[in-house]
Amino acid sequence: MKKKIVILTGAGISAESGLNTFRDADGLWEGYDVNDVATPEAWDRDPVLVQHFYNLRRKAVLEALPNAAHKALVALEARYEVTIITQNIDDLHERAGSSHIVHLHGIITRSQSSANPALTYPVEGWELKMGEKCELGSQLRPHVVWFGEPVPMIEEAARLAAQADIFMIIGTSLLVYPAAGLVNFVPRQARKILIDPKAPKVAGVSGIESVKMKAGEGVPQVVRELLL
Ligand code: OAD
Repeated sequence: MKKKIVILTGAGISAESGLNTFRDADGLWEGYDVNDVATPEAWDRDPVLVQHFYNLRRKAVLEALPNAAHKALVALEARYEVTIITQNIDDLHERAGSSHIVHLHGIITRSQSSANPALTYPVEGWELKMGEKCELGSQLRPHVVWFGEPVPMIEEAARLAAQADIFMIIGTSLLVYPAAGLVNFVPRQARKILIDPKAPKVAGVSGIESVKMKAGEGVPQVVRELLL
């Protein structure tokens, strides 16, 4: 039976594809305070601004390409059963060719009913317009999890983390819960590898191998070792 590798990724894995991380720029996200664009209250207050902000994020994602780190993870599938749990709303793991991807915080290339979050649809192109409605007649919003909203995929992610023989953490500050808590579900005997130039602290977990490198270089290096 193949060993199971579970990989938690964050904004850092897509940084070298030209998509900015959240916390490397003064707590602002592309110049915006997250409270103005990434909360249900922001949507209630100013849906035009929120829609515009995510339209620009979608445009940037569509123009970005998977980098060496996304691509290297695909190669692991030859030898291991691989699941990627990503906090990213981009689709770069999909476009690189990975097979099993859980999007904890949604995905920007889909829209979501503002009446029922379970109703999601593909977005054609980069722009989701005000006036575009779901089958229930409510305005479509981006299919992303905002601060203060539930994370529907977290239980599935925790179940997967608990089965890991090898757990990798790539490019995340581990500051946002519940995603950051997933590492606490990983079996104690599992090998744990962290790839991040800042090597963030992982609370309550010991025995982590830290690779202080950018993902574009560090991930292919670790993958080469895992395939030896
Ligand atoms: P952060 O911006 O908090 O953290 C990015 C991490 O990537 C940091 O630890 C950096 O050191 C690291 N990093 C930067 N460049 C890198 C590179 N080239 N290679 C590898 N690592 C690099 O992003 P996340 O941890 O993903 O949530 O943020 C978590 C969540 O907070 C996001 O999913 C988003 C955000 O607000 C929602 O939108 C719900």
